[in-house]
Amino acid sequence: MSEQTWNAQGYQTNAGFVPVLGRPVLELLAPRPGEHILDLGCGDGALTVELVAAGATVVGIDASQEMIASAREKGLNAHVADAAHLSLDGAFDAVFSNAELHWVKDADGAIASAWRALRPGGRFVGEFGGHGNVAAIVTALFAVLARRGVDAAPFHPWFYPTLQAYRARLEAAGFRVDSIALVPRPTPLPTGMAGWLATFANPFMAALPEADRKAALAEVVDLLRPALCDDRGDWTADYVRLRFAATRPA
Ligand code: BEZ
Repeated sequence: MSEQTWNAQGYQTNAGFVPVLGRPVLELLAPRPGEHILDLGCGDGALTVELVAAGATVVGIDASQEMIASAREKGLNAHVADAAHLSLDGAFDAVFSNAELHWVKDADGAIASAWRALRPGGRFVGEFGGHGNVAAIVTALFAVLARRGVDAAPFHPWFYPTLQAYRARLEAAGFRVDSIALVPRPTPLPTGMAGWLATFANPFMAALPEADRKAALAEVVDLLRPALCDDRGDWTADYVRLRFAATRPA
């Protein structure tokens, strides 16, 4: 039921911090020259270029045509594909993923894709929204839809597992989990809550008639102001990251 379209320019303006704040997971991956790396959910390629700069040979995949077009403009080897149904067999030394896996409701499908793509001994390193991620924002979206008689649950597009639940999924697929942690990361929003919602709230707004959406979004902003806006008018989102490194045993 989820409906998310991407505008690469809008994403850059409202959410350009997503790749910038992906540095810790890049460091956890520690790409080496000559490695073959799959970037699962490469978006517009802002972090993929860093993998290339580290000397790796990189293939990026993303579900969004707009994002892949933007990644290709950067000269990247990037393709539209569904992270939950990849059949890239055993060619990669590492699978890297930043800010993607919370969009893939078929979590086991994505983990199986990473497993198939890796050679034995290869590593799967990623970061995405974990349990409690943007909890206040999600609660406000549910409340505003409920005021209009709509149950938001079927429109909720994100998968935010606990680390115990995600560890169990990785292990059930055969991975050895080398590290896994939930990391609270309050995140300043450069264009405020309205900008964030304009980029990310489409799946919820799809539940409402077009004519109601503007007022609904304004209500979400009002509900969140006491919790997420400071006395200078600056907004901070309540992000929580789930960061992990796992290995396909040799
Ligand atoms: C995230 O990166 O955690 C995120 C991105 C879009 C919507 C919600 C959360």
